[in-house]
Amino acid sequence: MRDIGVGLLGLGVVGSEVAHVLLDRAERLSEQVGASVALRRVLVRDPNKPRPHPFPQELLTTNPDDIFDDPSTDIVIELVGGEQPALDFMRRAISANKHVVTANKEVIAKNGYRLLSLAAQHSVDLRYEASVCSGIPVLSPLQQDLAANEISTIRAIVNGTTNFILTKMAKEDLPYEDALRLAQELGYAEPDPANDVEGIDALYKLAILASLGFHTPVRPSDVYREGITSLDPKDFTYAHELGYAVKLLAIARQRGDALEARVHPALTPLDNQLATVDGVFNAVQIEGDLVGTLVFYGRGAGGGPTSSTVVADVLTVARHIAMGGIIRPRMELNRRIPVMPMADIMTRYYFRLSVADQPGVLAQIGRVLGEHEVSISAVIQKELDPEAQTAQVVILTHPSREHSVQSAVAELEALPLINRVSALIRVEH
Ligand SMILES: NC(=O)c1ccc[n+]([C@@H]2O[C@H](COP(=O)([O-])OP(=O)(O)OC[C@H]3O[C@@H](n4cnc5c(N)ncnc54)[C@H](OP(=O)(O)O)[C@@H]3O)[C@@H](O)[C@H]2O)c1
Repeated sequence: MRDIGVGLLGLGVVGSEVAHVLLDRAERLSEQVGASVALRRVLVRDPNKPRPHPFPQELLTTNPDDIFDDPSTDIVIELVGGEQPALDFMRRAISANKHVVTANKEVIAKNGYRLLSLAAQHSVDLRYEASVCSGIPVLSPLQQDLAANEISTIRAIVNGTTNFILTKMAKEDLPYEDALRLAQELGYAEPDPANDVEGIDALYKLAILASLGFHTPVRPSDVYREGITSLDPKDFTYAHELGYAVKLLAIARQRGDALEARVHPALTPLDNQLATVDGVFNAVQIEGDLVGTLVFYGRGAGGGPTSSTVVADVLTVARHIAMGGIIRPRMELNRRIPVMPMADIMTRYYFRLSVADQPGVLAQIGRVLGEHEVSISAVIQKELDPEAQTAQVVILTHPSREHSVQSAVAELEALPLINRVSALIRVEH
């Protein structure tokens, strides 16, 4: 059989590693496939840029047509990133009857279903395992190995940058700004970190996980999102005393006829495995009715781990080509489960209030919360400041409705004896 030709779009952090693996391990990979897998052309913006691995210059091109119009290219790997031109590149590749492998969470979260339909029309495959948690295989197990289960909950740490920052804040008592600067110095955070620290990256990944896990379209705009920028190291200490770690969690859960889909900082019980996931590591916890609780853990970013998954997807497609049959790509979204408005979510809450150190304050707080049907499970008074005559009060609630809690917070902040509600963090059990 003829060689299976591969075109690569992008030779950055991930593309360089993928190209290196395809060239360096060509013989072994071809043996696994049963046909030779050959990297034909690589699209870049700047062919003169230094690359981390030695690379045959003659393979580089700045003209996408060299890949899309080449009849000997069977598989296109998209590693350009961002929504455009990556989306157009993938549409062009599929329309030219080429299989596509991508690590692009933004394009898949926003357009995955339409792209997969287009791929099915053209009888080509579209694989995107690396778009969620890069090196950790989680989308395939969710679609294949867990197919017999009804999934009840997906709870995940899917962003290594924010998990690194939160770990530094918890373990070294660093303020957010210092922990972010350290992440940037180490290359874990971009100069503009908004996508990570505002929870946008995690939101795309949750939209993909939830769609596949619950067989229903979950759009990025359906997912509630709150980032980590206003967290204070104080709350990590108090949370720890109460038996919790603070993590940026991506949560999707079936509640009756509706779905919760939310990304926000959450108090996570110290005896839950997610609480022990530190640094740049990721973990996805999935609860299925047959299998119970599973945790997928590993490196969720970086050229090496992402290339592991991208090349595996390429090999799967290449094997199907070599065997002469393509598995039609699937995203079985055959259910329609509405995503709950955030105001209707029921969960427990952690509050920290800065209050006047005067008698009667706790009674006032209790009255306001009670009037909004928010019931208190624990109150702890922390840190008196005799000079300012203020105290910090930490409150844990029983499960309460988000709308009631937000109304209670607004009323508490208007009370003369309350300086401010300094922290409001949801608790995930
Ligand atoms: N980095 C990770 O750890 C990681 C993990 C999981 C998933 N991903 C995903 O993998 C994808 C690639 O990420 P990355 O970190 O490798 O990105 P990157 O380092 O920024 O590399 C992007 C590459 O695309 C090329 N490129 C960008 N725009 C182009 C255009 N208009 N025309 C031609 N070439 C263009 C660039 O060319 P030049 O080199 O010439 O500038 C560069 O080689 C993204 O979707 C990302 O979300 C990344």
